[in-house]
Amino acid sequence: MRVAILGSGLMGGKLGTIWARAGHEVVFSYARSEQKLAKLAREAKGQARAGTPGEAAREADALLLAVHWSRVDDVLQQAGDVSGKVMVTCSLPMNADDTDLVIAHTSSGAEQLAKKVPTARLVSAFSTVPSEVLFGVFAARRKATKPSLVYCGDDAKGKKIAAQLIRDVGFDPIDAGPLRIARYTEPFTLLIARLAYEGDEGPELAYRFERFGT
Ligand SMILES: NC(=O)c1ccc[n+]([C@@H]2O[C@H](COP(=O)([O-])OP(=O)(O)OC[C@H]3O[C@@H](n4cnc5c(N)ncnc54)[C@H](OP(=O)(O)O)[C@@H]3O)[C@@H](O)[C@H]2O)c1
Repeated sequence: MRVAILGSGLMGGKLGTIWARAGHEVVFSYARSEQKLAKLAREAKGQARAGTPGEAAREADALLLAVHWSRVDDVLQQAGDVSGKVMVTCSLPMNADDTDLVIAHTSSGAEQLAKKVPTARLVSAFSTVPSEVLFGVFAARRKATKPSLVYCGDDAKGKKIAAQLIRDVGFDPIDAGPLRIARYTEPFTLLIARLAYEGDEGPELAYRFERFGT
């Protein structure tokens, strides 16, 4: 797949690197320095390059939106037409100092984003894990027991592609249903962030759902 990374920071930089190493063609875009994008592309060691959001989006089979909530409009404007594109968002609707959700309960960041890009095939995924765990999950991808990763969306094709990208990182994709379920997954992330960043055991945290039937 050709994957456009819109926002090449902690999440986008790592996920793009992993997807390049998993064999996808990746374009890193949207950082404050072009050198950073070029370095990410070089170090990804797969088929990766740096580009503008517009270039990255034009040819992509899937886009990853990975920017702070305050940068969403700007990066979408730079990306241009995303009609029919699969867009995976890990962006959370956080306030300026990243201490609270600015949208929750009656809507979600993902649903507000869907209003901005109504013709994209939007999927919410990856926002429920800290970036620090991504390389560890990728390294353990051949183990039998994999961590879960919830995703949700209203478009079947988008969800199929997102599930593949989730599997490529090393997670077991869990289809949580329509995009409005992001109302529950986004606050869940604040629990994960609490456990990851406020505990003593480090932020390399993922989660796994298990069923115990009798
Ligand atoms: N980090 C996590 O563990 C985590 C986990 C779950 C969800 N999330 C969500 O995922 C999204 C991305 O988080 P992140 O931690 O990856 O953020 P980040 O590290 O700050 O990355 C954001 C990217 O946007 C770029 N950017 C910011 N302002 C810009 C500007 N004015 N012009 C051009 N580029 C600009 C940054 O450039 P620079 O590289 O130059 O700074 C960076 O590449 C957020 O919505 C966050 O809430 C994060």
